[in-house]
Amino acid sequence: MTLVGRSVPRLDGRSKATGRYLFGMDMVLPGMLWGRIARSPYPHARIRRVDTHQALRVPGVVAVVTPRDVPPRRFGGLVKDETVLAVDVVRYMGQPVAAVAATSPEAAMEAVDRLEVEYEVLPALTDPMVALAPDAPLVHEAWEDYTAHPALIRTRNICGEASITRGDVERAVNEADAVFEDTFTTASVHQAYLEPRAAVAMWETPDHLVVYTNTQLPFELQQTLAEIFDMPSGRVRVVVVGIGGGFGGKLRVGVEHIAALLARQARRPVKVALGMDEEFLAAHPRHAMRIFLRTAVRRDGIIVAKEALATLDAGAYSGSSPGLTSVATLLLAGPYRIPHLQIVARAVYTHKQNFGSFRAPMGPQCAFAVESQMDMIARRLGLDPLEFRLRNILRDGDVGPTGQVLNRVGLEAALRRAAAAINWPQVSGRHRGMGLACGWWTTTGGPSAVYAALQVDGSVVLATGCAELGTGAVTGAAQVLAEELGLDAARVTVLSADTAATPFDHGAQGSRTAFSVGNAALRAAAELRRQILQVAAQALEAHPRDLELRDGFVAVVGVPGRRLSLAEVARLAASSGGLVATGTFVAPPTPYDPACVRGHFYPAFHSPSFHAHAAEVEVDPETGQVRVLRYVAVHDVGFAINPGLIEGQIQGGVVQGLGQALWEAILYQDGQPAVHNLTDYAVPRITSVPPIEPVLLEFPSEVGPHGAKGVGEPPIILPAAVIANAVHAAAGVRITSLPITAPAVRAALQATERRA
Ligand code: MOS
Repeated sequence: MTLVGRSVPRLDGRSKATGRYLFGMDMVLPGMLWGRIARSPYPHARIRRVDTHQALRVPGVVAVVTPRDVPPRRFGGLVKDETVLAVDVVRYMGQPVAAVAATSPEAAMEAVDRLEVEYEVLPALTDPMVALAPDAPLVHEAWEDYTAHPALIRTRNICGEASITRGDVERAVNEADAVFEDTFTTASVHQAYLEPRAAVAMWETPDHLVVYTNTQLPFELQQTLAEIFDMPSGRVRVVVVGIGGGFGGKLRVGVEHIAALLARQARRPVKVALGMDEEFLAAHPRHAMRIFLRTAVRRDGIIVAKEALATLDAGAYSGSSPGLTSVATLLLAGPYRIPHLQIVARAVYTHKQNFGSFRAPMGPQCAFAVESQMDMIARRLGLDPLEFRLRNILRDGDVGPTGQVLNRVGLEAALRRAAAAINWPQVSGRHRGMGLACGWWTTTGGPSAVYAALQVDGSVVLATGCAELGTGAVTGAAQVLAEELGLDAARVTVLSADTAATPFDHGAQGSRTAFSVGNAALRAAAELRRQILQVAAQALEAHPRDLELRDGFVAVVGVPGRRLSLAEVARLAASSGGLVATGTFVAPPTPYDPACVRGHFYPAFHSPSFHAHAAEVEVDPETGQVRVLRYVAVHDVGFAINPGLIEGQIQGGVVQGLGQALWEAILYQDGQPAVHNLTDYAVPRITSVPPIEPVLLEFPSEVGPHGAKGVGEPPIILPAAVIANAVHAAAGVRITSLPITAPAVRAALQATERRA
């Protein structure tokens, strides 16, 4: 192999580095208006009246939409509980209640200021634990009337509950030598993509909608818009212009429906582009969680049973939350061999913004709880945390929490490698300590289809419905295609993410792009190769068997000079319509035991990847400040199609993970988020990022292209757990709540001193 496995430059690199790449935010159309959203200033209120008279008087205002203009159908994922604008009741601060379109952003802003909305303020339910009380008021009074997936388990404010039950937990707990109970909490954190959500909507005719946007999932958005506007999905075209960071925050409909509603009324294209202030108020940040764990062990350090109860703050609308409870259960079991399990995760409505998917959704929260507790138990048993993990981790032939059989498990290798790289357990000075953690994650399945077309110049167009999210995964898919065709990767032009022009794809989510699109590309390339060899065989008067494709030429093996360039092949084929091949891939289902899951939508981790991270930190005993000195991240990636891009993903994921470990939090006061922009919000600064050492292991997936597994999400999962464990090693204090801020560490240190 000459191309896969090499760190070729990413196809979108040059245009991004030189500022020429087009992002959703850049999109303009002739005659376009500027849309702006009026938002609720209260977390919970009844809308009494919306008066548009003054707003419509603002010069340049063309359209105003209010709850009266909202299509009546509720939309959503597993529960259809959302409307485009709030109807009758607002359920979170920042919820859209009206929108205007005007000839300038300034006029739109002024019109929003002049909208008169009269509210009757209602008490807000902001704590999920309070919302769980049997007599708690309902966030959605009509929850029982909403359309929902029949397999979803929900009651009152619980919009989704998934569980895993295996063996006999009660008996195992009773018979165990020791039982440990601990509770962990985590704060909500924001994806902090640098490009806010933006869309331009245009009705080409009254029944044909075109939307240019920065969504991660154009085909899902196409369906959602068709549902909202009650039209056939073929009449909705979604074009992804370019995505300036998504991290899961751009999976669901964002502003596209509001832009479309305004454009329909204005009969002109309308752009809605959010500001960062709006992104912190009304997006899909990571769930705050509360996790209770009860783990039963034998004296020799073998875990025999585990109970877990996780509560997700879903916010006011369910969105991704009900489905993510399933993911949480697999993570709470952890990458361990535990015969008896009772794990429940539930998503609870509150009067807050709609929390949702963020890179490895549920991952950092669950790993923080599970891997902190692993350390706590090891120390209580007097075992080395590495040794305790090695006694319990999943290995080849083991069965996962829901019965899936695992093979080629790279977990022990990852743990040993991480420990060796950090010099476990030798710390380098006073107030210093080391932490480690391990975990697992899925490579999401779902269908991908592509086509590959030979151009007359001998280059190839790869058409995929999957967008380049910024990870470089589409470059990986192009490398797989180019390898098969003996082409330089730079000779592949990617056409992506246009529902009218590219084949269906499950989308840029779940660490699946290089895996799924790569596999589809592999198949399309094999078919295109067959077509190329057939045309060339005739011209070269040779059997296709005797031909090879290399360096842009088809050559007769062993006969120097008998060859045709791909451009010549393309010209020969042009008279008969040219060469186009399609390839499709659907990840095969992962067998599991259906008897052990309830209300589950993600019963097994497909092509799972395993990882181990380790760090050394220094804790300032006066201030509680945590400084990360070194960070090692070992990842089983199956096969590294493009090692440079993968190392970049690992470094980026670890940085984001350190942010939520140490600094980031969207805190709420009476339902009002206390963060308004990136100045308030403590994303990691480059000066606080330690040297991060990525290590790639290759335990191939049976189905990935060349054995590749997903790599985009996993790097963000472990940092919070690693830092919590390292802080304990360095300072002797155990922080069970994220983020591990300096004041929290200092307070814990002072409490320890008082006790001493
Ligand atoms: Mo992801 S959170 O599937 O973009």
